[in-house]
Amino acid sequence: MNAKHATYPGAFHPLARLLHWLMALLILTMLFVGVGMVSTVSEKHQWLLALHKPLGVTIFVLALIRLAVRWRHPPPPLPADMPLLMQWVAHASHWVLYALMLSLPLVGWAMLSAGGYPISLGGSWHLPPLLSFDGETYAWLRVTHRWLAYLLFVTVLGHMGAALYHGLIRRDDVLPSMTFPRRETVVVEPVIVTPTASEPPSSEPPRV
Ligand code: HEM
Ligand code: HEM
Repeated sequence: MNAKHATYPGAFHPLARLLHWLMALLILTMLFVGVGMVSTVSEKHQWLLALHKPLGVTIFVLALIRLAVRWRHPPPPLPADMPLLMQWVAHASHWVLYALMLSLPLVGWAMLSAGGYPISLGGSWHLPPLLSFDGETYAWLRVTHRWLAYLLFVTVLGHMGAALYHGLIRRDDVLPSMTFPRRETVVVEPVIVTPTASEPPSSEPPRV
């Protein structure tokens, strides 16, 4: 008789998957809100900046929670038949994404601090300034925030392309590991114990 277990051996933890998709939505929104914000001078669009700041802080906090979940539940390994260089690029790009999820909000916060602006998150919620007022630092951090955001755009595009390559061309387990993992049946072979010559065969029926 074969014992069968339905398992998800090669999948991300459900909480990691939930955080991944929630954050993907927030980050894509954030990139478009950011671009929308700077491409208009109309006062009517002040609400975009009012949305941008609390959303950025939420992304920062969720990224920390996500790293803690990752540490507690390590991700599944990449397919063993994937070329080593491709595996290296995949891992490196994930760390670039994590670094950007943490550094962009910090740079945004520091930029507004150096510019002497209040960092309001809505209502009476304010963040304390990270730096003291300094026009030159403000200008530098503004450019840094912009280039980090562009780098995030490019990395996310590459990441999506890679996910689709796995899902549509390689058709391996990588995309399901982050979406709907395939149920895998683990077959445990029965162990047959044969009596040795010194052991007389028992007349009792075998115990189950
Ligand atoms: C993951 C988080 C974040 C992302 C993806 C993001 C993305 C962006 C993008 C794409 C822009 C437009 C850049 C440009 O074309 O010039 C922008 C601008 C801006 N962001 Fe963020 N941002 C984030 C977090 C934050 C935070 C936490 C703050 C403040 C607390 C902030 C404050 C600003 C400000 C003030 C601008 C306008 C800069 C300017 O006037 O040129 N950002 N952001
Ligand atoms: C803003 C958008 C996104 C961000 C910031 C993002 C970020 C990440 C990060 C950091 C990981 C690594 C997880 C870990 O090892 O802890 C990951 C894995 C993954 N993501 Fe995304 N993701 C985004 C959008 C997407 C989209 C749109 C797709 C599908 C088309 C996708 C598919 C995947 C898959 C399949 C994995 C597992 C890959 C592997 O193990 O190598 N992601 N994502």
